[in-house]
Amino acid sequence: MRFRNNPLHFLTEIRELGDIVEIGHRANRKILVLNHPDLVKEVLVDKTSSFRKGKGLQIAGKFLGQGLLTSEGDTHKRQRRLMQPQFHSKHIASFAQLMVEHTERMIHTWANLENRNIHRDMTELALEIINKTMFGHTITEDVDKIGEIIEAGSRRNIQQAKSIINLPKFFTKKADDRLQESRSYLDRIIYSMIESRREKPDEQHQDLLSLLLAAKDEDGTLMTDQEIRDQLITIYIAGHETTANTLSWTWFLLAQNEAAEKKLWVELDEVLGGNPPGLQDIPKLKYTNQIIQESMRLYPAAWMIGREAVEPLVIGGMNIEKGDTIFMSQYAMHRNPKYFSNPDQFSPERFDHEFLKTIPAYAYFPFGGGPRVCIGNNFALMEAAIILAVVGQKFKLQLAESHVVKPEPLITLRVQGGLPMRVMERANS
Ligand code: HEM
Repeated sequence: MRFRNNPLHFLTEIRELGDIVEIGHRANRKILVLNHPDLVKEVLVDKTSSFRKGKGLQIAGKFLGQGLLTSEGDTHKRQRRLMQPQFHSKHIASFAQLMVEHTERMIHTWANLENRNIHRDMTELALEIINKTMFGHTITEDVDKIGEIIEAGSRRNIQQAKSIINLPKFFTKKADDRLQESRSYLDRIIYSMIESRREKPDEQHQDLLSLLLAAKDEDGTLMTDQEIRDQLITIYIAGHETTANTLSWTWFLLAQNEAAEKKLWVELDEVLGGNPPGLQDIPKLKYTNQIIQESMRLYPAAWMIGREAVEPLVIGGMNIEKGDTIFMSQYAMHRNPKYFSNPDQFSPERFDHEFLKTIPAYAYFPFGGGPRVCIGNNFALMEAAIILAVVGQKFKLQLAESHVVKPEPLITLRVQGGLPMRVMERANS
């Protein structure tokens, strides 16, 4: 119950109880939490074949289908091999310009001293960027509706994942019908993208959609529309929600830390001199990148990873049976005082001097690890740095006084109820 009611608090509290903590049972199988980075590595990297994804993602599979996030075994290996080139640094470098353009377009619609829901802005921007870069599609759909659908789906998913018993269908019919409706809405968007690309096959595209349409099995068979749909919807959702949340948390943290905000402005002005950031500038924006790292430490969009054992094994001296669940929480680990001094304090400076080399590898794992590590990690980091740089050159974002900002751990760690902020032109601030 305590886990269900307030998972972030609970996971932080039980950190002191040991490296591996049994928190309960589901259908006679243990539920364990790992608190030591080496054990996290054992599960994510060394003994990966003894596990499959946890219940949360198994349930999400009903919505996402057999996409990269939810597929298992050889199917996953094949899909990963196929899609990896699309995410190589060389390939994503070509997206920098698009990311700048979309961000500039967004801030051109902002007026000085205007109150805005910054979480909505970040979601819309991240959605536009993923659509354009991966599918060559310009978004014309209702972004608020898409946001609502994803939130409702996420809520239903987490509710199911947390429940110890499967409730009779009668109790869940309404929520399930709503989920089905949402699925149909998103499917319509995705299938129409596939259809319109199939209708104009000779246009030169080098995006994920073209790659999937041209991909063949060993026996030469092309992917079905359903298989392509599963991959697209996975990238569509995984590729924008996480980044949008990371950016929202970053603006929230900066608004509360004037010194860090000033340091960001100085760096942006010195490195960019009023010009839009180019690809070559991103590594030079050291403090900007540290802000993003620190934001993902305090508010990791993926706040917990779950795995289910598919065979008996031993982890951290404990016997794990087939069907046992293991949770690893980035939120709790990233705030562990053993690895991070003043862990609740926002301090991008801590990432100076190759700090990550001084702590165990999996004390900081915002993108997971091993063969299931986030495929979009470099894409997300580049995107976040560009958005921070383009917006930060022109605007200061101030928190709305009356609004209490609270994290809400759904599938991703969201800002509960949006993020109302006032945008102020820096020249006037
Ligand atoms: C700040 C942004 C992001 C964060 C924090 C994040 C986090 C994660 C994490 C923790 C995982 C591993 C889940 C697990 O092991 O169960 C993951 C997997 C994945 N992410 Fe991300 N992600 C981000 C952005 C993106 C972007 C931009 C894309 C696509 C463009 C993406 C696509 C995926 C996919 C497809 C997987 C599954 C990979 C596989 O299993 O082979 N993510 N992400």
